[in-house]
Amino acid sequence: MEPAENADRAEGEVNPPVAAKKVFVKTYGCQMNVYDSQRMSDALAVDGYAGTDRIEDADLVLLNTCHIREKAAEKVYSELGRIRDLKAERASRGLETVIGVAGCVAQAEGREIIRRQNAVDLVIGPQTYHRLPEALRKARNGEKVVETDYAIEDKFEHLPQPRKAEVIGRGVTAFLTVQEGCDKFCTFCVVPYTRGSEVSRPVAQIVAEAERLAEAGVREVTLLGQNVNAWHGEGPDGGEWGLGRLLLRLAEIPGIARLRYTTSHPRDMDDELIEAHRDLAALMPYLHLPVQAGSDRILKAMNRRHKAADYLKLVERIRAVRPDMAMSGDFIVGFPGETDADFEATLELVRTVQYAQAFSFKYSPRPGTPGADMTDHVAEAVKDERLQRLQALLGEQQQDFTAAMAGRTISALIDKPGRQPGQLVGRSPWLQPVIVDETAGEIGDIIDVRITRTGRNSLFAEPI
Ligand code: 5AD
Ligand code: SF4
Repeated sequence: MEPAENADRAEGEVNPPVAAKKVFVKTYGCQMNVYDSQRMSDALAVDGYAGTDRIEDADLVLLNTCHIREKAAEKVYSELGRIRDLKAERASRGLETVIGVAGCVAQAEGREIIRRQNAVDLVIGPQTYHRLPEALRKARNGEKVVETDYAIEDKFEHLPQPRKAEVIGRGVTAFLTVQEGCDKFCTFCVVPYTRGSEVSRPVAQIVAEAERLAEAGVREVTLLGQNVNAWHGEGPDGGEWGLGRLLLRLAEIPGIARLRYTTSHPRDMDDELIEAHRDLAALMPYLHLPVQAGSDRILKAMNRRHKAADYLKLVERIRAVRPDMAMSGDFIVGFPGETDADFEATLELVRTVQYAQAFSFKYSPRPGTPGADMTDHVAEAVKDERLQRLQALLGEQQQDFTAAMAGRTISALIDKPGRQPGQLVGRSPWLQPVIVDETAGEIGDIIDVRITRTGRNSLFAEPI
């Protein structure tokens, strides 16, 4: 899943009841956390909490955390130190502040968080968000609350559906979680431990949520899941549906013009899904399909359960049905045992695929994962050097991809005002910002534009 570090805080924009409490939510990590933050805000709005982006005004500060790499997890503790001071300062003015830690650090570390930072009142794991209002009541009564037991019941069934007013403030693109958790157990990854095993949301629930989003003006929906393409469910026809079939159904919803999904595992790209890329115009030609490494030896040690050649074949098949498909990926350098030759194989794979975008990381040993117990760890300096070389190559490919857009005619979904007055910003099918004059259309419109000039990342365009 693409990291959304420093992601926007989720704000529950509702008409607050008089003397409403205020909640400040800060989101770390992936898009699934962004989605969860919104759903928590929705649940809190029902309880009379209005969102704020001023932390010093917040009666409840909620950090939605990420545990994927050590750096991400450690950030939380430095932030908590600052929030503790804020809590003390507010207390001196007679104001109560509840500090809550949600997300994957909460799940992985539980009560340890309160041991390390006693100002924390509430620790709540990602599968138990529907218990947030109750946990909050206990915390406000002075109890230290830790809610990390996996709930048997489905959290989505118990979380309130977003209300129209809340969704409207959030723009014309939206995330929708359809699947959570992971059964793959890649040896570097904490996700199977923090998010639990794979669970798919039922078709009817997903369709209902997508319809609500569409009614609120959303034009583009990104389906989320740690293993989104492993999603499966029972269709209304009683048959077994995969993600490809689900996408076909969602494309029928009036108003929904664009669909995406992330993050996928190469092993779960089935024929039906590949065919959806051929048959479904609404399915955007952009696929985040992490491979992590290009050496078969390392892929095996990572327990990815496919070879480099399988991945390349898959990319070829996808591009055969959708020639304008842009590929995005995730890479890890310096996994235990990675030699220079293994790393060269990663560079070779990258050269073959030609990525439009990619995220790359130094391997970070995570407690409790098999990788952390492997013996032949790679020196930090070697990881640094490999990461630099890989990022240089990926950066070049990304720029080539953007530069090649000059002169082309593409569609853009106008989604926000531009930074300069008189401009609007749209989104290309490949997730690039497209800058147009404000006369080009209105937010929510999908217009055809010609690219006149390309920037580092963005496209400048005129309507045709
Ligand atoms: N160290 C470094 N990167 C990791 N990722 C997951 N676990 C680790 C780890 N222990 C990366 C993978 C994954 C992305 C979300 O984060 O590339 O696809
Ligand atoms: Fe982690 Fe692998 Fe599951 Fe992705 S597929 S969440 S990398 S264990």
